[in-house]
Amino acid sequence: MSVENSIENISTILVIGAGTMGRQIAMSAALAGFSTIIQDISQEGLTAARTELEGWAASRVAKGKLEQGAATAALDALSYSTDLDSAAANADFVIEAATERLDIKTAIFEKLGVLAPAHAILATNSSTLGSSKVAAATGRPTQVCNMHFFNPALVMKCVEVVRHEETSDETVATTMELARRLGKEPVLINREIPGFIANRLVGAIQREALFLADSGIASIEDIDTTARTALGHPMGPFALMDMVGLDVIDFIAQATHAETGADTDAPNQRVAALVAEGKLGRKSGAGFYDYK
Ligand code: CAA
Repeated sequence: MSVENSIENISTILVIGAGTMGRQIAMSAALAGFSTIIQDISQEGLTAARTELEGWAASRVAKGKLEQGAATAALDALSYSTDLDSAAANADFVIEAATERLDIKTAIFEKLGVLAPAHAILATNSSTLGSSKVAAATGRPTQVCNMHFFNPALVMKCVEVVRHEETSDETVATTMELARRLGKEPVLINREIPGFIANRLVGAIQREALFLADSGIASIEDIDTTARTALGHPMGPFALMDMVGLDVIDFIAQATHAETGADTDAPNQRVAALVAEGKLGRKSGAGFYDYK
């Protein structure tokens, strides 16, 4: 393994995007002892992330699940920046969790290719865009892969590491090891495929759940109850879609359908209608369920 690309070489992690995923990925890295920069173009987004993470740490301490010293150390290890140029210059490993738009991601990865140190691995948390789509823009495609976390990222153990055709073995090994150091259980996906593993599995369940509800076979409450009480799922498919965000669910379906053209991947009209009404799930106060 090349020394430059190895886990020993990583002390500073840059997370791009302070949204739902980025902020919790950053906190996972800070808790694991990495100096961690959260970069976002929005100062408001950074402030909201800081507020949530400080609140989360305080509640963990209050619950007796985190030592005060560890909480303070993690919060101290985090820094917040709107300036991608200086943040990238200091990063040994980058996890991009910005908006799921190819033009935005391509511009970021092009910049990272110029600004990040030569040894830095450039990973994307994207669930819909394989890293092959941005790899060429970096000028270092062998050091690019997907590192896909799950919501809520401070809790969920899975990280999908997805290699594209040019990703090197060293990049894969270091990314998998970094995930382990963050307390995760990484899985490797050897070839890009829409949805990777988890979203393909959950997509099949969601599709079937929507079919049952749309056909009037059962209520969403009873479908969710069945998933919990018969299958042992922590939450039913409708509650999960509300947690992930119906806009995200709709976006994933659109992106997958555009790539595969398969009827089974087509966006669901009921989900699209809720999104059009501004019912995005928990974050907007209503989705399949009412949270107000
Ligand atoms: N942020 C941080 N921590 C959270 C949290 C959040 N948003 N929500 C819950 N937690 C923590 C709680 O603090 C609690 O921690 P402790 O037990 O250590 O005190 C723990 O999670 C359990 O929480 P609760 O007791 O409140 O509730 P629960 O037992 O129902 O668990 C859950 C909540 C972890 C979300 C659980 O319901 C679950 O695992 N649901 C399935 C989640 C899932 O499938 N995620 C994948 C989504 S798909 C995706 O992310 C991919 C994509 O590309 C869109």
